[in-house]
Amino acid sequence: MLIDILTLFPDMFTGFLAGSLLGAARQRGLVDVRLFDIRDFAEGPHRQVDDRPFGGGPGMLLMPGPIVSCLEHVQAQASPPGSVILLTPGGRRLDQEGVENLAARERLLLVCGRYEGFDARVSQAVGAEEVSIGDYVLSGGEVAAMVVVDAVARLIPGVLGDEESARHDSFSGPGRLVEGPQYTRPRDFRGLHVPEVLLSGDHRRIEAWRQEQALAATRRRSAATPTPGAARRSQP
Ligand SMILES: C[S@@+](CC[C@H](N)C(=O)[O-])C[C@H]1O[C@@H](n2cnc3c(N)ncnc32)[C@H](O)[C@@H]1O
Repeated sequence: MLIDILTLFPDMFTGFLAGSLLGAARQRGLVDVRLFDIRDFAEGPHRQVDDRPFGGGPGMLLMPGPIVSCLEHVQAQASPPGSVILLTPGGRRLDQEGVENLAARERLLLVCGRYEGFDARVSQAVGAEEVSIGDYVLSGGEVAAMVVVDAVARLIPGVLGDEESARHDSFSGPGRLVEGPQYTRPRDFRGLHVPEVLLSGDHRRIEAWRQEQALAATRRRSAATPTPGAARRSQP
């Protein structure tokens, strides 16, 4: 899989890309991640990438020209043209199903915003998909892009040492349940004991217990997590 990242701050990715899982996956040729500096495609002596919003309002917006020129340059360098993803808080909220959908693509182009975000014509001009990593606002799209790359890369066959582990992760199996409690040594930690069933060696019982715990954990989580959009719907 090829992932191109367009950003004003490529240096932010250095440590992240060298990190253990992703670094090894890149070395093994399972995923190729390339960085492009949007400012290289800006014009004028000051290489300006942002400007004040028409109609007034706070802050600066990213101008469409440098981003679209950068995208056209990057897309022409390899095929297929790939899926252009603009990272933006107003985009479709990413969940594991969305990650699986992105992981099935051959090529992603992730565009990181800054300041007050993108001129709306960027998305229209390139037919981008808009993705949010959650209902909160970050200072820039770089951290959001790292979230996408990390979540997608671990689904690429061969990236995880043990393919089974991704299938058992939260949100991944049937019903998209969250994982129930897990334990390792010691058996007794400050008077807190590992549930007896996990020490029984009875794999059927263990599997049934895990399923029951996952259902209970999923129910608890649903009760503790407001329904997406509920806050917005309650507003006038
Ligand atoms: C300060 S934010 C802009 C927020 C924008 N004015 C708004 O209210 O939607 C700057 C950039 O950070 C990135 N960003 C912030 N929060 C994000 C989120 N939840 N998901 C994805 N990207 C995000 C986007 O690339 C965005 O263009």
